[in-house]
Amino acid sequence: MTSPTRIGIHDLAVATAGHVLDLDDLAAATGVDPGKFHIGLGQDQMSVPGPDEDIVTMGATAAQQIIARHGVDRIRTVFFATESGVDQSKSAGVWLHELLGLPSTSRVVELKQACYSATAALQAAAGLVARETDTQVLVVASDIARYDLDSAAEPTQGAGAVALLVSADPALAELEPVAGLHTAHVDDFWRPNDSVTAVVDGKLSIDAYLDGFVAAWDDYRTRGGVDIDEIDLFTHHQPFTRMAAKAHRRLAEHTGAELPAERYERSTVYNRRIGNSYTASLYLGLAALLDGDDDLTGRRIGLFSYGSGSVSEFFTVVVQPGYRDHTRASETAAALAARTPMDVAAYRALHAGAHLGSRVDVEIPAQSPWPFHFAGVSGRARQYSA
Ligand code: COA
Repeated sequence: MTSPTRIGIHDLAVATAGHVLDLDDLAAATGVDPGKFHIGLGQDQMSVPGPDEDIVTMGATAAQQIIARHGVDRIRTVFFATESGVDQSKSAGVWLHELLGLPSTSRVVELKQACYSATAALQAAAGLVARETDTQVLVVASDIARYDLDSAAEPTQGAGAVALLVSADPALAELEPVAGLHTAHVDDFWRPNDSVTAVVDGKLSIDAYLDGFVAAWDDYRTRGGVDIDEIDLFTHHQPFTRMAAKAHRRLAEHTGAELPAERYERSTVYNRRIGNSYTASLYLGLAALLDGDDDLTGRRIGLFSYGSGSVSEFFTVVVQPGYRDHTRASETAAALAARTPMDVAAYRALHAGAHLGSRVDVEIPAQSPWPFHFAGVSGRARQYSA
């Protein structure tokens, strides 16, 4: 075993749900000025899952693109990060493992800490790859953000997944070793076991996010992280994309640095259209930066990960030479375009049907445009088809 020089993100793929609601329609139906959604929240659309879609199907759809390119042979670990888990015991990753035909000689586990856990998965993956440099770790972040109808948070719902392949000699982005951390107990957002929608104190969550960001930044600097001037671009966790603007402004105030909006703005283009995807949101921001027109070779990107409750982490990656041969802008554009537009009544009917218990067997026909489907419940166990 040799010590690797570089470990990081070798591939990154995106998936989302099969329906889309335009927030102009939600604004009209609820009597809200559309400017509040587009400007005040920074959201244009939200992805809405159909009955045959869940975190497993979205995660598998994202990961399948990576498998198609790199195969499965070197994958020894699957980390499934989510805060909208479908079982209290079994990792959603085990169903994904089966759907994708991953090697039986692998470990699979689910990680939870609100929107943060994909970052814990990425860091743990880097540690595993450092121990066995010929292996790869598949990190899947997949979530459905559901809030109560007619709540302030309703327009910030969404659904999406990002799959990351972590390896030595990464093609996309090297993960730098320094990270800044901050954990503080706060009841800003959570989802009790008996609820399909999150409980949220929205204003408190914004303050807790910003406090966590500053604290994680300070820890990053204390641990030897680079000066703010050495970070070229940023992507921040985006529960709604305007939150990235608030975070960016707070970092500028805190450091005294000039941080023009051009240094994060491009990171919001996917999240504006997908809505909140919890664990996947930060990595949709990274994908949006990598898929942009600017050549980012050699650029350092700062990433801020926040999970309510709360855990915060700030870390950096460096974009690798030749990365543009490995990005997937056209696949992501196709996934966004493949969504079926729906009206508010249809979206609300899906929202109302979101809670499917396990006590009655049910068969759900395949209907989404994606390769994997939630097929229903049999003998209390979830069934999937490909
Ligand atoms: N045109 C433009 N902007 C408008 C507007 C209009 N017609 N009407 C309102 N706005 C702006 C407000 O001024 C406000 O801007 P500000 O943030 O700069 O103050 C913004 O839209 C939001 O409106 P506001 O009324 O303050 O908030 P809200 O009651 O709609 O709640 C959230 C917003 C984010 C708190 C709510 O959507 C929520 O709880 N979301 C889920 C939790 C979450 O995402 N937390 C983030 C941290 S994890």
